[in-house]
Amino acid sequence: MPRSFLEPKLVLATHNPGKVVEIAALLEPFGVEVVSAGDLGLPEPDETEATFEGNARLKAHAAARAANLPALSDDSGLAVSGLGGAPGIYSARWAGPDKDFTLAMSRVDAELGEHPDRGAHFVCALTLAWPDGHDETFLGTIHGTLTFPPRGGRGFGYDPIFIPEGYDQTFGEMDPAQKHAMSHRADAFSQLVAACFRDA
Ligand code: IMP
Repeated sequence: MPRSFLEPKLVLATHNPGKVVEIAALLEPFGVEVVSAGDLGLPEPDETEATFEGNARLKAHAAARAANLPALSDDSGLAVSGLGGAPGIYSARWAGPDKDFTLAMSRVDAELGEHPDRGAHFVCALTLAWPDGHDETFLGTIHGTLTFPPRGGRGFGYDPIFIPEGYDQTFGEMDPAQKHAMSHRADAFSQLVAACFRDA
């Protein structure tokens, strides 16, 4: 049996403002007070694990221990089929120290070249960890295809090159609410909610 979340408050173990907005919106119906690791001035641990789940666990446990509150972390990225799953857990690192996603998207374009497989999927591992060391972890995905050059100024990260299956627009062109309803984060989140949350 997964552990239920019964506390009034949790820490979002991320310093990425795009993710804070998406996850805070997803948590709103549950009446949970949300603070971010950035707001609390918590350090950002190095992502030293080899999987999305491993890194999500590492970040959630570090924040739960430091804040003495339950912590929710997200580790996510883009897995490109023609690149053997790269950038994968290195998705943020492909943007370099300046977090330049124009650069990261150009690198995907250059490495993929004329590869016939344009498929890709976003992955999101979500971990809810408690200060006593327990956690619940869920993995969400969304499949689609890549397009170059990037299209649309909405969203963040690799959104402008990703067209979800069954749609014509990239995540960067789409209404954010539409993206949030179908994203890899929404998928992982609905698993988390079904397992651990009750409506407020
Ligand atoms: P991390 O989970 O903070 O290590 O970084 C994940 C990286 O994957 C982000 O910085 C983005 O580059 C990329 N990413 C994850 N989710 C999304 C998304 O919904 N849209 C676009 N890029 C994403």
